[in-house]
Amino acid sequence: MRDNFNRQIDYLRLSITDRCNLRCRYCMPAQGVPLKAQNEILRLEELVTLAQAALKAGIRKIRLTGGEPLVRRNVVSLVRSLHALTGLEEISLTTNGILLPALATPLKEAGLVRVNVSLDTLKPERYAYITRGGNLHEVWRGLRAALAAGLEPVKVNVVVMRGFNEDEILDFARLAVEQPLHVRFIEVMPIGMAAAARLDYVPVAEIRARVEAFYPLQPAPGVKGNGPAVNFTFRDGRGSIGFIGAMSEHFCPRCNRLRLTADGRLRPCLYGDEEIDLRGPLRRGASLEELVALFRQGILCKPQRHHLESEGRRQGLMSQIGG
Ligand code: 5AD
Ligand code: SF4
Repeated sequence: MRDNFNRQIDYLRLSITDRCNLRCRYCMPAQGVPLKAQNEILRLEELVTLAQAALKAGIRKIRLTGGEPLVRRNVVSLVRSLHALTGLEEISLTTNGILLPALATPLKEAGLVRVNVSLDTLKPERYAYITRGGNLHEVWRGLRAALAAGLEPVKVNVVVMRGFNEDEILDFARLAVEQPLHVRFIEVMPIGMAAAARLDYVPVAEIRARVEAFYPLQPAPGVKGNGPAVNFTFRDGRGSIGFIGAMSEHFCPRCNRLRLTADGRLRPCLYGDEEIDLRGPLRRGASLEELVALFRQGILCKPQRHHLESEGRRQGLMSQIGG
């Protein structure tokens, strides 16, 4: 279905938990965030019902997010149930990769198509620092498991922060040359903790120039994805590289997505405050048609664009909105 600015909205990011097994500094405070009570979080059947309504409102692709979606018990059966819904073209997932060694193959068998793994540094000590205790070797094992399971493509999301990991841009590029991995550099956005920490982004034009000084790039419009990344392949390399100019480039005109928080609030825009409660109506026994109408309403109240550059920093935590 099209929104008021003639954008086709066919992609839903479904947060399935607000919990996480890491505490990335730009995402969560050290002590974690006050978690929602169990009964506030949508149950698996509720997630499936809402997905069904979303599909009837024109959604065709669903990505599971968190928190960390793999800490949700029964995530494999959730994927299996979603995979069985008519009209769903693709299920993908964004993860920190820690739990992929055990889950990659079961997820693939349940119908998961591909994964994005969040990984901001290739240095073990730095990884432990930014994630407050994460073990980089577990992520490597997770990436290998994803490749071995036949999830395709396997993407690596790198949030680039000025003065923190900009010195690793070429290391990530080399990773994409040597491995069949699709590295995407993302400008850090001033949301939640990243705003509080006053992290600065490195413009994608600058990241790209640094990469191109060593590796000639060729445009690759065909790399499978839903969103705002501009992708390239190497003349001689196994993977690809992409750039998400979350701050410096205005991709709002190409926005194709809705978000649903783990406690059932529909968010038309990551940056806006607008939200529509779906859990209430769902638990009061709304019909599928009524839920479809709420999704349509969500699509129709998508703003034309965000104003992050001028408004500055936003509250609201990525771990709750689902990135
Ligand atoms: N800016 C950009 N990306 C972010 N992510 C989390 N917080 C931010 C931020 N402030 C990324 C995570 C993950 C995805 C869900 O969003 O690293 O890759
Ligand atoms: Fe967890 Fe992802 Fe947030 Fe890191 S960025 S704390 S892995 S949800």
